[in-house]
Amino acid sequence: MYNIMMKKTAMANPSVPPFSNAPSALILSGGPASTIAEGSPRPDWGIFDLGVPILGICYGLQVAACRFGGRVVNASAREYGRTELDVADPHDLLEGVPCRTRVWMSHGDMVEGLSGAEILGRTANCPFAAVKVPAGRFWGVQFHPEVTHTEEGGKILGNFLYRICMLKGDWKMSSFIETKIAEMRAEVGESGVILGLSGGVDSTVAASLIHRAIGGQLTCIFVDNGLLRLNEAESVRSLFQQHFRMKLVSVDASERFLRELRGVSDPEAKRKIIGRVFIEVFEEAAKAIPGAEFLAQGTLYPDVIESVSAHGGPTAKIKSHHNVGGLPAVLKLKLLEPFRFLFKDEVRALGRELGVPERIVRRHPFPGPGLGVRVLGPVDEARLSVLRKADAILIEELQASGLYDKVGQAFVVLLPVAAVGVMGDERSYENVAAVRVVETADFMTADWARLPHEFLDRIAGRITNEVRGINRVVYDISSKPPATIEWE
Ligand code: XMP
Repeated sequence: MYNIMMKKTAMANPSVPPFSNAPSALILSGGPASTIAEGSPRPDWGIFDLGVPILGICYGLQVAACRFGGRVVNASAREYGRTELDVADPHDLLEGVPCRTRVWMSHGDMVEGLSGAEILGRTANCPFAAVKVPAGRFWGVQFHPEVTHTEEGGKILGNFLYRICMLKGDWKMSSFIETKIAEMRAEVGESGVILGLSGGVDSTVAASLIHRAIGGQLTCIFVDNGLLRLNEAESVRSLFQQHFRMKLVSVDASERFLRELRGVSDPEAKRKIIGRVFIEVFEEAAKAIPGAEFLAQGTLYPDVIESVSAHGGPTAKIKSHHNVGGLPAVLKLKLLEPFRFLFKDEVRALGRELGVPERIVRRHPFPGPGLGVRVLGPVDEARLSVLRKADAILIEELQASGLYDKVGQAFVVLLPVAAVGVMGDERSYENVAAVRVVETADFMTADWARLPHEFLDRIAGRITNEVRGINRVVYDISSKPPATIEWE
């Protein structure tokens, strides 16, 4: 429910027992619950008596409003996506923020009344969009400053931490590497560690960091599930054997995955099958590695947030991301997750510090279920092959035009509908491909990339001309929320 931001002896109210780790600032995060609903999660109200500055974001603001006797209502106009914030007081939390700025909203409830509060900013539908309750040392925002689509989000969080809480931002990536290496050496001792390698940024950087810590005690396992991009399996194998010189066990299980997926169209059923078969294949490969006691995973903080519930109850599960569950229990291995509290951009910075090649550090993420959730409906080799070719054209063109690094993720989705077209003088009846390119930093929110029309024209032309089986290309212009990045 609440994040303890930094350790430092706090100026706490002496009558209240302090937290054992004495935070200097607290941030109450957003969440899927509604304070109006029975049983919604609440923090220990004692935190408001600690004398520590508290920032409430979205649900965090609403729950604090309950504590201060305010009124939370179900908003008549729900707000999702971009909204303009009008700054009423350009000091304090909003110091240096222009009088009108773009913020990212994602809420159904909002605060309607809060006595003792000063309004720092409002939007057309939300009168308490940014507030301060001086008596409670509380600041709150209805929008999400932690997502990149809030233009001044970094500045607002910086104002809270450095101006209001007077903290110092002196944490460095190099100190993270030293600390993690020492921690992992102490934890692992002489034992063996196995790591599921996908060739993506997270597992590659995890492998480099762990390899630096324990060298030959690490063995990587790469499973080709047949749902990878064009030529991906070969390039992962050559990179790890030639560039990194790490112990690598490579398993080609593509036929097995496709057999199990035959005829299955429900996205969650596909994910479960892919997750289960992955565990089976991985388990068989892992058993052949002697002395392995740890399983390393490149799990990131967003995976953790989207997969667990803060209050132990049912979480608002959007998609099951199989990289967080399953494997460790089956393998009876201890988990080693050095990035559990890092975001993607931090893992990229870490990769650069570790000397991981730039083309890998910059790679867009690729989901565990791969093209299995991008061929919508039933998956088979013929449809995968069509998708792979279209996808390769998109990536090639993005790289050639210098746009690849400017977007967060880009891929093609093969839709389960056929469309009529005309090729030469013949009628065609073929697949429709959707191109999805998004801008995002944390993948928890995203906006569709405003790519130049000439670029879209070029990829549509190349895909329909070069890929047999696609006669129509559409461009996805949905943001997350309300859509998600993947289609399934
Ligand atoms: P969504 O579609 O949830 O995607 O907006 C957010 C990010 O997660 C990736 N993604 C997955 N990654 N297993 C994964 O390892 C999955 O089942 C999965 N589903 C989505 C997606 O590509 C995006 O980067």
